[in-house]
Amino acid sequence: MTIYPSEIWEPSSDYHTRTGKLYSEAARDHLWMHFTRHSVFEGHGGAHNVPLIVKGEGAYIWDDRGNKYLDGLAGLFTVQVGHGRAELADAAMEQFKKIAYFPLWSYAHPRAIELAERLAHYAPGDLNRVFFTTGGGEAVESAWKLAKQYYKLVGKPMKTKVISRNIAYHGTPQGALSITGIPAAKAVFEPLVPGGHKVPNTNLYRAPEHLRDDPKAFGLWAANRIAEAIEFEGPETVAAVFLEPVQNSGGCFPPPPGYFDRVREICDEYDVLLVSDETICAFGRIGDYFACNQLGYVPDIITTAKGVTSGYAPLGCMIVSDRIFEPFRHGLTYFPHGYTFGGHPISCAIAMANLDIFEREGINEHVRETAPAFRAALEGLLDIPIVGDVRGEGFFYGIELVKDKATRETFDDGECERLLRGYLSKALFDSGIYCRADDRGDPVIQLAPPLIIGQTEFDDIAAKLRSVLEGAEAHL
Ligand SMILES: Cc1ncc(COP(=O)(O)O)c(C=O)c1O
Repeated sequence: MTIYPSEIWEPSSDYHTRTGKLYSEAARDHLWMHFTRHSVFEGHGGAHNVPLIVKGEGAYIWDDRGNKYLDGLAGLFTVQVGHGRAELADAAMEQFKKIAYFPLWSYAHPRAIELAERLAHYAPGDLNRVFFTTGGGEAVESAWKLAKQYYKLVGKPMKTKVISRNIAYHGTPQGALSITGIPAAKAVFEPLVPGGHKVPNTNLYRAPEHLRDDPKAFGLWAANRIAEAIEFEGPETVAAVFLEPVQNSGGCFPPPPGYFDRVREICDEYDVLLVSDETICAFGRIGDYFACNQLGYVPDIITTAKGVTSGYAPLGCMIVSDRIFEPFRHGLTYFPHGYTFGGHPISCAIAMANLDIFEREGINEHVRETAPAFRAALEGLLDIPIVGDVRGEGFFYGIELVKDKATRETFDDGECERLLRGYLSKALFDSGIYCRADDRGDPVIQLAPPLIIGQTEFDDIAAKLRSVLEGAEAHL
């Protein structure tokens, strides 16, 4: 693996902007960070500085003080092939020299065409048509709009509603946010796009008690809630079901056995489109280019982003079946939708080079082969009193923290605040691992490292988590 030499960056604790301010001060004064409580940066003092990440190599990142961290979240579920890949910069540079920008509005450029062909090749069934966006939320937004227009074109104009799952995150545009199932992320933006309905997710750990020990029965039960919601809303009004292969938010809920078989059956029965939101799960995260391939179902639309470029440039897309595209082949019909930067040539060139790395280095195979060892390292933490559950697939895990393991009692809001924000987030970072402590559902630690790590890093992650979690109860 080629890495940029470290000499190009010298660690320094006093990075200054052109006005002479420390970066952390300028960040505090001018930068608006995403999903971030800015009050924690008010005032001065090291503990409240904006964490400043200045370098990455492989699975590691460095802050401005020269401290090294294992990137346990691949940036944001994104940097699949690791940081510092010179080859991806070279691919971008080559494209810059040819043409840096051109849109996909009635014209096209070679990199978008090549990438569309390649993604169609990796996608299952007849998912052959690729519509580029700049990220996952735009892909989800596009898919809902497409579903609405598709049903108008085939004479079912009432089909506009969508079904998705509790606590699932599908992005921030107002349509995608309607699909999102996290009340706290939506409340201040209401009223959102009407027509988003929620069903239970596949959190086996929190399944109804009589189903907890029978994943197959739980899977059937959870899938049937989708049928129930379609019946309840009226099948003639429901356009699509949006599901992640493994739901991220809430802490990695894999589908129970048989779940997607039954969901596919339901979607066919009611003529509802199945959208596999693989913004996180695609590109090796669970061991295949698309998670639906590995889990054995064929959706009507895949939405994806993030790992397609390993984060070296923004890109997302939806991949659509021939059946859905069919009405758009004729007459005056077109999809009145697009983005200036959707399918940007630089992003597409990087994506092609990123996928070359996947093929050459066997990234998917590596994830499939070593995932059991990663899981085992994390399951070793189950002896710690507050570790209730370890779950996930591939290189994608959630560790749920509980107050009482026997009863699975969770923490109240105040305890969550003290545990996650008061202690864990900082303690994990201080221990040398960047990952996420999250309580959009029950409190979890989320792990989704670059897909290039092995046993040494699995053990290191587990050791760091242990050192922090064993002391956690004292901070409640
Ligand atoms: C499943 C899913 N869908 C959509 C999104 C939104 O993607 P973006 O932030 O690229 O808009 C995310 C982001 O994490 C996601 O996990």
